[in-house]
Amino acid sequence: MSWPTVRNVQQLILLTIQLVSSFVPRPTARSRLQWTTRASASCRLLSSTEGPNRDGLPTPIHHYIDHYNKKSFTNDAETVLGRVDGFMRLLEQQEAWPLLHESKIRDRIHNQHTRDCEAASLNLAPESPVLRDQQCSTRYEWIFSGTKSYPLAAQSLEPILNTTAISTIREAAEAHWKNPAFCISRFTYQRPGNYEAHVTDLGERVRSIVNETLTTRIYPLIRDVFWNDPTCSLAPVDQLCVYDALYIRYNSTQAKLLDHIGAGQPLHRDLGLISINIRLNNDFEGGGTFFENQLLDRKESDLEPGITPLKPLERGHVLLHKSSERHAGASTVDGVRDILVFFVSGVSCETGSGSGSTVPMPIQSAIAKQSRGYCDDFYSNNPLRAIFCRIAHQRYAVRVALSDGEAWQYLGTAFMEYDTYLAVMKASAWLRGAVLQTATRCLQLATRLTPCDSRVWNNLALTLNRQWKLKSDASLLNTTEMAFATAHQLLKMSREKCDVEGELDNVNVNYGLFLSNQDRFMEAGCILEGTALKKIIDQDCGKAIEDAYELWKFCRQQQ
Ligand SMILES: *[C@@H]1O[C@H](CO)[C@@H](O)[C@H](O)[C@H]1NC(C)=O
Ligand SMILES: *[C@@H]1O[C@H](CO)[C@@H](O)[C@H](O)[C@H]1NC(C)=O
Ligand SMILES: *[C@@H]1O[C@H](CO)[C@@H](O)[C@H](O)[C@H]1NC(C)=O
Ligand SMILES: *[C@@H]1O[C@H](CO)[C@@H](O)[C@H](O)[C@H]1NC(C)=O
Repeated sequence: MSWPTVRNVQQLILLTIQLVSSFVPRPTARSRLQWTTRASASCRLLSSTEGPNRDGLPTPIHHYIDHYNKKSFTNDAETVLGRVDGFMRLLEQQEAWPLLHESKIRDRIHNQHTRDCEAASLNLAPESPVLRDQQCSTRYEWIFSGTKSYPLAAQSLEPILNTTAISTIREAAEAHWKNPAFCISRFTYQRPGNYEAHVTDLGERVRSIVNETLTTRIYPLIRDVFWNDPTCSLAPVDQLCVYDALYIRYNSTQAKLLDHIGAGQPLHRDLGLISINIRLNNDFEGGGTFFENQLLDRKESDLEPGITPLKPLERGHVLLHKSSERHAGASTVDGVRDILVFFVSGVSCETGSGSGSTVPMPIQSAIAKQSRGYCDDFYSNNPLRAIFCRIAHQRYAVRVALSDGEAWQYLGTAFMEYDTYLAVMKASAWLRGAVLQTATRCLQLATRLTPCDSRVWNNLALTLNRQWKLKSDASLLNTTEMAFATAHQLLKMSREKCDVEGELDNVNVNYGLFLSNQDRFMEAGCILEGTALKKIIDQDCGKAIEDAYELWKFCRQQQ
């Protein structure tokens, strides 16, 4: 049996585009150049028109986070989980598979977390049980977002590192980077202009400063902000520990040499409980942490005065947020910005939901979500079982963290992959409809929890569009369009602050294809143009740009 390996939904849609545009000759470098100099006048005209329906496209509704409406959410969530479990039972019976026991998933998570935390605690001090209840002397304040005042992050109102300590740490980092033996980096988001070093590699003096700061300042402050302050109270954790600590340098000069507007980091979540960053210098422009939830309750017309990425107030000050808060390193556009980052994890005695694990729930969820590699390897000869392995992991992530929007999103996309499989196997429209309906319900729950995550809206649109193809219900077209428009607008608002170009290109291609399939070639052209006329500087993103270009040209020919 040959089954195409669709790594993500994006690829599937791009396959479709190849079919659409196969009769348009591929552009040569020269023809491409000519197009770039001619942005179409009609688009400029449309987008300069003010009013709710500029571009003739729907104005998406912005939601607030549904933590505020817990009861209604929990009821809806239970209903959807009932459907998910129904599918899992059905598959187990039909295919006569043994259950993928939750205990197996839990044990794997537990082992991974214990390994990570033990490795880190060898070098950096974990929270001391003796000092745990000491008074915290560091003053701080919360920073809120959206009309419902969502608590986004906290910042200290005084330094937690003095200037002597900062100089020692910076000198150690300089020395470290000068030593060619330490070139190898484990940093996940390696970007042009970014350097990093593990704090544990910066020598005995730095480790001792960091140990002292953790014990006397950082752990007590984290306790106060996230556990003792009524603004945000997380589930109890018995002992905090650092599972990774990095010195990060954003060098704007170097990023610019490589054609980037500045040195930053794309949107991501951290794999921990709490993330903190300490400011080490002032002589730079731009930079800071951009949070996706800074977009809460904003419309594109609110662009002025714009969103300011968050930075610790002064040298030695600290910014703290939950690791699950999706964020990006905003571009440092002038000078060099140095920060110290700590990913703080913990151990819990709580055995809530009968899990029997000492790993805090948000961390269990975060590890369970990263199941793709494991499932694909383990079931490499059986794509359906690999998909069900992923469904089981995402189901687990949702169970331990019911209000984690990303877990709901990934559960939804796992069901989309199940549908992709069913489509290839020519399964009945009835079964596919039920699977897509489940995917949609998961993604809709995700939009209530993470309303500013553009990926959720893009995936929701793709699912609804597949449902429409099975069953031409006109109301599906409306909701699909609304979802694409929301994804598009969120990314347009984010791009001022951080690099979301790859995500925006993918959404533009999907959205443009959707519009052109309804013969709305002019609107499709306007959406595609932003991507189609880009210069390809990064081969990974090149494919979306080329597809956008082909489709854009096709749309222009139809007008
Ligand atoms: C820092 O703390 C860790 C864990 O308690 C300890 O093993 C290490 O020796 C300490 N390092 C220094 C330099 O104090
Ligand atoms: C600066 O901080 C370090 C590390 O916390 C501490 O050992 C030192 O005494 C402090 N120096 C001053 C002048 O406060
Ligand atoms: C930043 O990068 C530029 C260009 O590579 C380099 O010349 C400069 O020394 C770097 N600055 C720092 C402080 O690392
Ligand atoms: C779709 O939306 C348009 C305008 O927003 C509305 O006029 C139309 O009735 C909607 N169609 C359906 C089927 O809901």
